[in-house]
Order: sequence, then C-alpha cells, then structure tokens
Amino acid sequence: MRAFIVKSYGKKEKLHLTELPEPMVKENEVLVQIYSAGVNSLDSLIRNGDFKLFLPYKPPFINGHDMAGVVTNVGSKVSKFKIGDEVYSRVGDHKIGTFAEYIAVNEADLALKPKNITMDEAASVPLVGLTAWQALVETGNVKKGQKVFIQAGSGGVGTFAIQLAKHLGAYVATTTSATNADWVKKLGADLIIDYKTEDFEAILKDYDLVIHSNRDAKILEKSFRILKAGGQLISLVGPPTPEFAEEIGLPWYLKLVMKLLSAGAKKKAKKAKAAFRFLFMRAEGKQLANITSLIEAGVIKPVIDKLFVFEQTNEAMAYVESGRAKGKVVVKMK
Ligand SMILES: NC(=O)c1ccc[n+]([C@@H]2O[C@H](COP(=O)([O-])OP(=O)(O)OC[C@H]3O[C@@H](n4cnc5c(N)ncnc54)[C@H](OP(=O)(O)O)[C@@H]3O)[C@@H](O)[C@H]2O)c1
Repeated sequence: MRAFIVKSYGKKEKLHLTELPEPMVKENEVLVQIYSAGVNSLDSLIRNGDFKLFLPYKPPFINGHDMAGVVTNVGSKVSKFKIGDEVYSRVGDHKIGTFAEYIAVNEADLALKPKNITMDEAASVPLVGLTAWQALVETGNVKKGQKVFIQAGSGGVGTFAIQLAKHLGAYVATTTSATNADWVKKLGADLIIDYKTEDFEAILKDYDLVIHSNRDAKILEKSFRILKAGGQLISLVGPPTPEFAEEIGLPWYLKLVMKLLSAGAKKKAKKAKAAFRFLFMRAEGKQLANITSLIEAGVIKPVIDKLFVFEQTNEAMAYVESGRAKGKVVVKMK
C-alpha cells in the first residue's frame, strides 16, 4: 500500500510517499481501507518532534490521526464491526498512520460513519469532534443556560464545538475575524467577537467555561478574567498539568516538569476562583458513536474548507499549519 511516512523529525521535514505492506490485524483490530483522511495540526506537531517526550514514535512511521473508510478484514475477537461496514476513527495514540491506503484500528477506537455525510466529511470529524465532546460534555459538563466562550470559532475545533455547545443549550461566544463572522454565526454562535479589532475581555463577563486554544500567554491570562467564580478553563494548548501526566502514565520527572510548567496558570485559576484543566483528547469509539447520532439527527454538520488528493498530503498539512483554515482540511485517497 502507499503511505506517507515521517523519515526524520523536523519542522522543515516533508512526509515521504512510500510503498509498504498492508498491515496485519491483531485479534481486536479491524482493517480499514481508507477513503479519506482528516488533517490536524497534531499531525504537524508530531512530524516536528514537538510531542516526542510523551508520544515517542520512532521514525520511520506513518503519520495521520483521522480517517473514514470501509472495513476489509476483522480480527478474531472483533464483535462490533464486519467486512463492508463504513467506519470512521481518530485512531489511538501509538497506533497512528491514517495517511495511508489501509490501517489496522482497535475496534474500541472505531465507530460507524454517519450515513448522511460523505467519506470526506466523515474523515474531518473524529479528532475535533471528540475534542469538543471531551471538553464540553465529559470534562466541562455543560448545562442548559451556561455561558461558554469558544476561542477561534472558524477553526476545526471551533466549528464543531459551537454546534455541540448550542445543542447542549449553552449561550456561546466566540472569536473570529470579520471575514468569517457571517458563516460562524450561522453555526449557532450567539456572540461573535472580531479578535482583530475587539478585546474579548472587555465584552465577556461571568462565563462558566472557556475552551482555550490560543498559544499567546496574554490570551490565557485574559481568559481567566472573564470566568465567574466556580467556572473552568479547559485548555487545548497548554500548559500541560501534572494531572494530565498522571492520566497518561508519564514518569515522575515529567510530572514534575508539568507541575512547574502549569504553576502560573494554576495560580491565576486560584485567583479567579476557577478551575484550570489541560485536555489532550483521546480516541474513543463510544463517544464517536454518540457524535454519529448527532450528525445523523442533523444537529451537527461538518465544515470542510479544502480537499486535497492523497499525493498532496504535504500541501494539505502546510495549509493547516498556515492557521487560516475555515473548518477542516481533508485528503482524499479514493
Ligand atoms: N489538546 C487537544 O486535544 C487538541 C485537539 C485539537 C486541537 N488542539 C489545538 O487547538 C488549536 C486549535 O485547533 P484547530 O484544529 O481548531 O485549529 P485550526 O483549524 O487550524 O484553526 C484555524 C482557525 O483559527 C482562526 N484563528 C487564528 N488565530 C485566531 C485568533 N487569534 N483568534 C481567533 N481565531 C483565530 C483562523 O481564523 P482567521 O483566519 O480568521 O484568523 C482559522 O479559521 C490548535 O493549536 C490545535 O493544535 C488541541
């Protein structure tokens, strides 16, 4: 099969198109012929080597986290999927490799693809959909009437999270630039702030939850100040916390590093009488099945900006890295 591999880590490194054997399935795995693969900034961070400390992939390895496709083989203990099923997944950490024609996926990380959307649309969903679910439902426990601030409403996570937060009954504020304001409003956002001309801190007050996704330290600081007492800030970009290190079983010294890295944010949270949590989303087929239901019910619609053909996977990653994508970017294998 053809696959795009990371030969060596580095920001300037390109993925290399290579011929590799089709993967074998273990007893709890499903072999999927990939029709489309979603592209995420995580793919670039992995290629750069930025996550080597806790996701130590050894080059050469196939990159890519999101995919949609058709089941072509199942392991002996697989019970939920059969040959011919249309499925999608954010594949598990340590098992990545969706920039390829086939992948073996643990059945626990897989869900049936929503019937009412294309393979391209389905491939765009898992990573951002699960991020939004884990932030708003699992961790944030968002309730009807709560005020939620979702940063970067026009991005992959933002476009999905706005729709999910509205479904949960929240009042949703978001930041975006003026050119995106109209279509982001149509996703359901109640309040749009033009981040280029307005200061969200001057507009927002007493929020229950902030989904923080901006790496500028000043944005993190301001985000704490718009929370009400008892509110929470869930960061998708860090700093990572010792609780996160514990969750994924990192050694004590990395826990210590994360304690030091997050000390400032924890202090600001304490001052705001709010909670600070770092979320690194994880693969989860059961949650993805809930997302399938929401998409089939018409509650959430994927937003795709650009489609690339498989051979243009590096160009697709570069487009995501530009930070200007309006929704999601997808690579088409078939
Ligand atoms: N921890 C996790 O599990 C996790 C999961 C998913 C994503 N993430 C991280 O979360 C961040 C967002 O991910 P994403 O996939 O949504 O990114 P993305 O799709 O690449 O975001 C691009 C969008 O962000 C908007 N944007 C850029 N700067 C902005 C600003 N200062 N204020 C408001 N909007 C701005 C851009 O709109 P304009 O063109 O109008 O500027 C563009 O539409 C990334 O850093 C990603 O690595 C983390």
